[in-house]
Amino acid sequence: MEIKKEFDRLLSLCICVLTVAGACAADWVQGGVWTDTDGNRINAHGAGIMLHEGIYYWYGERKGKDTYRSPGVGWECYRTEAGGVSCYSSRDLKNWKFEGVVLQPDTIDSASDIHPTMVIERPKVVYNDKTRKFVMWMHIDNPYYSAARAGVAVGDSPTGPFTYIRSERPNNSESRDMTVFKDDDGKAYHIYSSEGNSTLHISRLSDDYLSQSGSFSRNFSGRFREAPAIFKHDGKYYMVTSGCSGWSPNEAEWAVAASIMGPWKTIDNPCRGKDADKTFYGQSTCVFPVNDGSRRSFIIMFDRWNKNDLIDSRYMWLPIELNGDSMIIPWREKVDVYNSMADIAAE
Ligand code: GAL
Repeated sequence: MEIKKEFDRLLSLCICVLTVAGACAADWVQGGVWTDTDGNRINAHGAGIMLHEGIYYWYGERKGKDTYRSPGVGWECYRTEAGGVSCYSSRDLKNWKFEGVVLQPDTIDSASDIHPTMVIERPKVVYNDKTRKFVMWMHIDNPYYSAARAGVAVGDSPTGPFTYIRSERPNNSESRDMTVFKDDDGKAYHIYSSEGNSTLHISRLSDDYLSQSGSFSRNFSGRFREAPAIFKHDGKYYMVTSGCSGWSPNEAEWAVAASIMGPWKTIDNPCRGKDADKTFYGQSTCVFPVNDGSRRSFIIMFDRWNKNDLIDSRYMWLPIELNGDSMIIPWREKVDVYNSMADIAAE
């Protein structure tokens, strides 16, 4: 009897500890301070999250600690030193280990694209099954955002180091906010705001993902969309974008297409709840897959920018609800999707 009592006491203690541990992770508040496994704040903005062999890799802009305004620019051109690209890894989406600055800034050559005085934004990484390389594309710009280029880097491992190759104006066009999408057939696409941000180009990458193939389409002409986040579900392509208002929030929009090259059909604002017309004070950056227990579903990640102190910009993860031909992104105070995430590795 005594033994049984002791067993029960230990059991309830265990349950208590587990509940507390779970509660800590689940207490991540949207737009709160999110920390890595060392207790440091995660510094990886404009992120891309890649799932590779059961591990999630979170890549993002490493913001410098001081925010200042680029002189002589009419709009609110706030910036920090470009600190390269950070990477964090996680098996469960709860515990994020800092893997280091996987693309280091070039602090020596002041003419380099990745010198701290430049802009390195929205890095996205995809794995090339044929070359077995990890390819990173990113927005490269000067402090005034007038260069409008795309940079590419390559690495042998998801945690780098990545070697910077070059920048270009893809298809001889401007390229600012961007993402990369890898399709089921192994083809990858570079999606970038172009033509003064009035249009979004979708450009198929070469087989090694290191350059453009020459085949591209112009989409959303005259609609001024940026911050593209794209995913595929049941053979259809979905995209969430923001409007163009710098670091200030605006209304999101979603679109759907049967072919990634288009035509894309714009639907409406998918956000629901308080401040849905301001995307909950966030801006889209990427979508990643999770397993909700029975099926594959998706989480969309947003940046909540703090233009006066950019390193203090926060993150939000919200579920995407797809129902037939409709998409909804409901507001949730907390990141409450954890229970659904851990098993994706098994897929
Ligand atoms: C936003 C863009 C951000 C950053 C910012 C600069 O529109 O989405 O990634 O470039 O402008 O003001």
